[in-house]
Order: sequence, then structure tokens, then C-alpha cells
Amino acid sequence: MKNASAPVTHYRKDYLPPDFLIETVKLKFELDPNATLVSSELMLRRNPQSDGLAQKLFLNGEGLTLKAIFIDDEELTEKDYDIDESGLTLNRVSDRFVLKTCVEIDPANNAALEGLYVSGDKFCTQCEAEGFRKITFYMDRPDVLAEFFVRIEADKTQYPLLLSNGNKLDSGDLSENKHYTEWHDPFLKPCYLFALVAGDLDLLADEFVTHSGRKIALELYVDKGKLDQSQFAMESLKNAMAWDEKRYNLEYDLDLYMIVAVGDFNMGAMENKGLNIFNTKYVLANPATGTDQDFENIESVIGHEYFHNWTGNRVTCRDWFQLSLKEGLTVFRDQQFTEDMRSKAVKRIDDVKVIRSYQFAEDAGPMAHPIRPDAYIEMNNFYTVTVYNKGAEVIRMLHTLLGEEGFQKGMSLYFKRHDGSAATCDDFVAAMSDANQFNLDQFKYWYSQAGTPTLRVDYDYDESNQCLKLHFSQNNAHESASEPYFIPVKLGLVGTKGNQVSFSSAEFGLTNVEEGLIIVTQPNQTVNLEGVSEEVIPSLLRDFTAPVKLDINYSDQQLAYLFANDGNTFNRWDAGQRLMQRFLIDEEDSIKESIAEAFRALLNDQSIDNAFKARCVQIPDLKTLFENDPNGRIDSLIERRKTLKKFLGIALEDTWSRLYNQLHRASDLDLDGVSVANRALKNASLDYMAFSSEQHEAIVIKQFEDAKLMTEELSAFSIANHHELEVASKITQAFYDKWHSEPLVMDKWLAIQASVDSLDTLNRIQTLRHDRVFNIKNPNKVRALFSTFAALNFSQFHRIDGAGYRLIAEAIIEIDEFNNQVAANLAKQFSSAAKLDDARKMHVQQQLKKVIDKENLSKDVFEVVSKTLE
Ligand code: PHE
Ligand code: ZN
Repeated sequence: MKNASAPVTHYRKDYLPPDFLIETVKLKFELDPNATLVSSELMLRRNPQSDGLAQKLFLNGEGLTLKAIFIDDEELTEKDYDIDESGLTLNRVSDRFVLKTCVEIDPANNAALEGLYVSGDKFCTQCEAEGFRKITFYMDRPDVLAEFFVRIEADKTQYPLLLSNGNKLDSGDLSENKHYTEWHDPFLKPCYLFALVAGDLDLLADEFVTHSGRKIALELYVDKGKLDQSQFAMESLKNAMAWDEKRYNLEYDLDLYMIVAVGDFNMGAMENKGLNIFNTKYVLANPATGTDQDFENIESVIGHEYFHNWTGNRVTCRDWFQLSLKEGLTVFRDQQFTEDMRSKAVKRIDDVKVIRSYQFAEDAGPMAHPIRPDAYIEMNNFYTVTVYNKGAEVIRMLHTLLGEEGFQKGMSLYFKRHDGSAATCDDFVAAMSDANQFNLDQFKYWYSQAGTPTLRVDYDYDESNQCLKLHFSQNNAHESASEPYFIPVKLGLVGTKGNQVSFSSAEFGLTNVEEGLIIVTQPNQTVNLEGVSEEVIPSLLRDFTAPVKLDINYSDQQLAYLFANDGNTFNRWDAGQRLMQRFLIDEEDSIKESIAEAFRALLNDQSIDNAFKARCVQIPDLKTLFENDPNGRIDSLIERRKTLKKFLGIALEDTWSRLYNQLHRASDLDLDGVSVANRALKNASLDYMAFSSEQHEAIVIKQFEDAKLMTEELSAFSIANHHELEVASKITQAFYDKWHSEPLVMDKWLAIQASVDSLDTLNRIQTLRHDRVFNIKNPNKVRALFSTFAALNFSQFHRIDGAGYRLIAEAIIEIDEFNNQVAANLAKQFSSAAKLDDARKMHVQQQLKKVIDKENLSKDVFEVVSKTLE
């Protein structure tokens, strides 16, 4: 470390309430790309909840040039305050005072994309988690809630549109071709929810009438010329508003809801009060530019940010350790939204895949943390799949345990107690517990312990007593986890004729049910199921009712049987995945025949939905396989996965081409569920056909040329590249020629090339990064090229000569000069280092040492890399 000062670790246990509160904030922005003036007037008052002793007050502020400072209209002199690189200390403060400051900032040179910055020709802000301190001096912490008044002044021609949170109070002209607007947000909010946008944008306007009859103006702002890609986002917003009323009885509270799409954004989107700012990726799409997956993502992120208005904004977090309070809950809500809008079972499969590939890996790696972390160096590093997605799994368990009605009772009590304030995860659990008289003390270990528990199950059947005994044992390897978890397990029993066999359990109040919920709470626990009339195969953890690894010793035949007969769709899919892992990880060569047979039966079954079939024929991805393989044998996993795919391609040759032709003929331009499902299965078939069909290349070319939908065009482009067809380079060029001026489509173009399993890919990436569509300052481009390579191109990232690691390490060093957050995220790609073989581990260490020795390394990257090197 060559940093001037060693990075500071922040601890959850050190929380103290703020010494002062801010009642009102008045901000004035005089916008200029290189020299924006921010004037602030804060009404401060001593916090009655503090010890009342503080004589000084510290306000965060970074990269600000102070122009003026007054307390109660008296200009301060140098002895009255101190300024360092982290903020401003007022040396003597009274119980109530007004602080006025004026600072200058440089938005055009803000490539960190945190605070106020310029994207394209417009100004925008990103303040979560701690970006507001780059705008003005402030108590930048989520438990300081204030009423905001904002005035924006700017050139009228360049920035006809001047937006901030809440309601517009006033607007008018000024001298020198300038104009202003004034905004007021009546809802108290922490500064991380502040937003400002200024620019010249196209507007899609609409309206939503709430269930109480209020009219809400909806405004979606996009770059000029992009209105034809904005309709779907608007529809999604209206659907989300209606859904939250129907399912949660939650109504929107302001009269105006605005969304602005910007091309340069570190994350997906941001829930600023009344003025969401979105990455264009989650707004812009029409059927020609966006895939079916893009549409689903847009719907879900639009929903997510909208749902934050209650779970995040009306009730916010006391401190950043509580992040999962808003994120886990809001991800759970957006998952439910998608389940209700689309297919519940398929959505569940897709969500569990994220947990098993990314979250389990994070839980097993150097950055493992509980969903409510205890410590951080840089908060931005904790916007993770653990806080978000495992957090959502924990909320889902509460929903499973309490039922829809009980869960809603808990939500009502939570809002009753905490609306308009900053709360903790404990507060949330207390509301759920109190509303239902349900003891959740043991459940709370899900918040405090890291790591993925393994739930081992053995069973035996006692025919004479018609009793099935299930022996559970739980085991958690992580050091922070010494307490047993409270684990809800949904289960059913599958009989020998494909029938669902009913059972009873006095202990869990189940009488003659075909499916039921039991709860495992002990390290070792036996559950007796009574009234079991025949020999059965237990189907456990249905719908993945807990984020655990289920370890149960099925025979190959039993797995194939469950894949064909399990009454629970999720578990059916899961059995298929487990069956394939027998070949991929356990190296059971002979099993590939039964996999092919099982696929054939599935694909020929007319009663099964094509979306589900498309999920079932996906071979587990390498990330999941690597996570599940105790020895992490990269080369063997890659080889065996290729072998299996090829085998299935050839063995089911007729089935794939029959499906392709059938579905291709039936294909249309619709975006409804059936059409989306048909395309998914059709394109999966085309992928398998590459191993057998002689006309395959001609079919790919035809699909590419005829495509009217991006889903069709992109899968042809992708298949041509991944199978290294002769026509690949021609298609790649044609795609570029057609789409080079659509940045989001070019992201796909880059990502597919970066993920090709070929020794040539590294060279290709070196060429691509100098292409005019690439820009290292744009996070979407970095993710498309570098993150895709590291996350999805297993064989080339893990090249045995270390060249893949070098590429990423050098990118981290380059990007850390201007965007710490994006650099640190890329550094997380090395989290599997400990599991690698010695040769690869050595290469990783060598590269990471280069990173950690970098001059002025950010604390963001330092935190990730130092933990990885430990
Ligand atoms: N709060 C945002 C969300 O979950 C994510 C985000 C975090 C965006 C930090 C920007 C910066 O929707
Ligand atoms: Zn969120």
C-alpha cells in the first residue's frame, strides 16, 4: 500500500445517533460543466437523542472547493473551522444554527460517476451510498432525514430541462439566456435519495390513476431520438404501480413520477425520490434492439425502483450495514412482481441459478459476509449478491413461514411503526414477529452469519408402521457461523407410479397432505412422516425454500425418475441439473445415455411448457460446476461440459431439428409468454444442432438474415461465434455495420465476442478495446468486454499461462485511475483464487500483487484485493 493514509474499517457495532439533525436543506445549483457552484443552506438543530455534549460538528465533503461559509449569516474565519480531504469540521456550534456554504465542483471531469457528473450532454447525479458528499458539505448518512428545497440555474438552450425530487414549485427566465426551476420534496429524505438532472431530452408522458383516484403524471425522459425504445418501460411502470396496490396495498405518494435514462451509470438504476435515474440498459428496448431477456430485465428493474418508494424511501436504512433492509426486501418484491406477471416456476428457476452460481461462490470466497455485514472499508463493495439476492431469500423464508396473509400483516405493522424514519433489519424482523406472534429469535442467525449451510438428509422407510424417517443434519463451514439455522423445508413424496403420496406429521400440524412445510432447527434432527402408504422418493426443499445446499443421496435412477415425475416444477428441473452433474463432476460416463433419454421424454411431452423445457436442457454453467466441484478442476469441467453438450446434440439430432422447424414455423413477433418460451426453446435447439445437422450453418445464416427480433438475430450471431462457424466473421461484421450506432446493441456485440472459448479471444479483446464503439470510461462497455470475459469465459480467463488474469489485472489498474467502484467490481472476479490449482493460483497472486502495489490504489480495490490475497 502506497496510500497516504491506511484505509479505515467501519464497524456496525460502532453506530451512534447523529449529534445534530438537519431540518431543512436549501440548495442552489448554478450549472456549468467545469465549474458548477453549489450553495447550501442547512437548518441544523441538536439531536435530542444524542448526549448533547458535542461542541464541534463534522460534515462530510470530498473534492469540494470552498468559496464561502457562514453561520447564522456571519462569515466564518479560519479558526472557526477545519477542512481536510474527508470534510469540514465546525469548531464551535450552538444548539440551533443555520450553516451556509458555497462550493465549486467540476462535473465534466467526474469519471467516477458519483456525485454530480456529466453523461452525454446532460448533468445527472448518483448519491447512494456516499456520493452526496461530493456535491456539498453535509451529514452524509442515511439516518439524517431532511426536507429539501432545490433551485437549479442553467443555460436555457443547452439545458431546457431542469429536474429534481418532488414537486416543481416555480420556473422562469434569467438574464444571459439562463433559466431556473425550483423544486420541493415534501417527504423527509436522506441525502442519498437526492437527484438532479439537466439536459435536452425527449419525453414520453403518461398518467396513472391510483386506487384512491389520484392522478399521477408519469414522465420518462430519454436521449433525443430514443422514444421508439421507451414504450415498454412505461408500460412496466404502470404495471408495477398497479401491482403494488393490489398485492401490498401501497399507493404512490407524490403527484409526479419521473424516470431519466443515462448511458453512463455504475449500477442498474437508482430509486431517488420521485426522480429515478436509470442505466439506459434497463429502459431502452424495442423488439428490434432488445432481446426477450432485456424486456424481462427492464420490467423487473423498473418494478424494483418503483417498489423502493415504500421499501427504501418511506422507510429507509439507519446505517449502511442495514442495506439488506431495503434491498433484500425490494428484490423479493420485484421477484414476486415478475412471478405474477410471467411464469412463477420459471422465474424461481432463474433466481435460484443466480444464488447457486454467484451467491454461493461469494459465500465461499474471500469477500464472504452476512446479509447484514459487520464491517466494511468501502460501502460500495457491499452492493452484492449476498445483500441483494440472499437477502431476498431470507425475506422469502419469512413469507414461506408466515404465509401471504401473515407476511402482509407484518408489512403493515412495519410501515405503521417506521414510516418516515430510518430503521434496522432487527426492526423489520420484530414487526414480522409481533404481527404474527411468531418467535423469530433463531431465524435471525440468517442476518448475522455468513456462508452457505449444507443440509444433509438421510431417510429410511418403515413399512409396517407406514412411517418415513427423515434425518437432517446441518453444517456450515464458515467461521462466523456457529449457531444452527432455522430452515423451512417444503416437501412432498413421489410414489413409484409417478404419483404424489400423501403424509402426515403431528409435529408440524400436517394431516394427509401431498405437500407440506417442516422446519429444521437443530444441528441433527429427525422428522417422522406418518401415514406413508408406500415406498417413496422424498422431494425436498421444493421451490428452494431455503438458501442451503441440499445433500441427499439419490441413486441415478431416482434422479432420472424425479426429473420425469416430481410434482414440483422446480424440483423437477433441479433433478435434471443434478443428473447432469453426475456426468460433469462425478465423472459417471455411462449416465449420459439416461440424460439423453430423459431429455427425449421431456421434449416430446406436449403437456409441458416450452419455457420450462428450455431451462431443463441448459447444462449447468461452469461457474456453478466449479462452485460445486470440491476440487475445482477447471480443465476437466470444461472438457466434460463440451463432451456432454456434443453428445446430447448428436444423440437427439432428430428431436432438435424437429423442434427447431416446428417452432420456427410457428414463430411470430409477439412478446407474450408463449412466444418468448417458443423462441427460447427454438434457439436452444439450434445451439445443439450445431453438432449434427449438416444444414446447420445455412440455418444460422438464414435466421440471422431474416431476423426481425433481436432475440433471433443475437442468437444466430452468438451461435455462429460460439461454434466458430465459417460464417462467423461475416456475421460479426454485418451485425456491427447494422448496429454500430446503438450503444446497447454494441454491448451485446462485445460481450459475445469476449465469451468465445477460443485461444484467439485475448487478441480479439485487445483489438476490440481500440474499436471506436469501445470506451473504457463507460461502465456498460467495461462490463460487456472485461466482466463478461472474466465471469463467463472460463477457459480463457483461466488460461494456464496466466494471460487471462493479466488482461483483467491491467484493466483494473487502468480503470482505478478514474472509477474505483467499477475497478473494484472487476477485482471481485478473482474471488475463486483459493480454489484454483497451484499453477493458476500463482499467476493470480502475481497479478494481484501488481494491483496492490499500484500508486494511489483506491480503498475500494484495496479492500477486495487484500482480502483475496490473504
Ligand atoms: N439502490 C440501487 C438499487 O438497488 C442500486 C444502486 C446502488 C445504484 C448504488 C447506484 C449506486 O436499485
Ligand atoms: Zn434496490
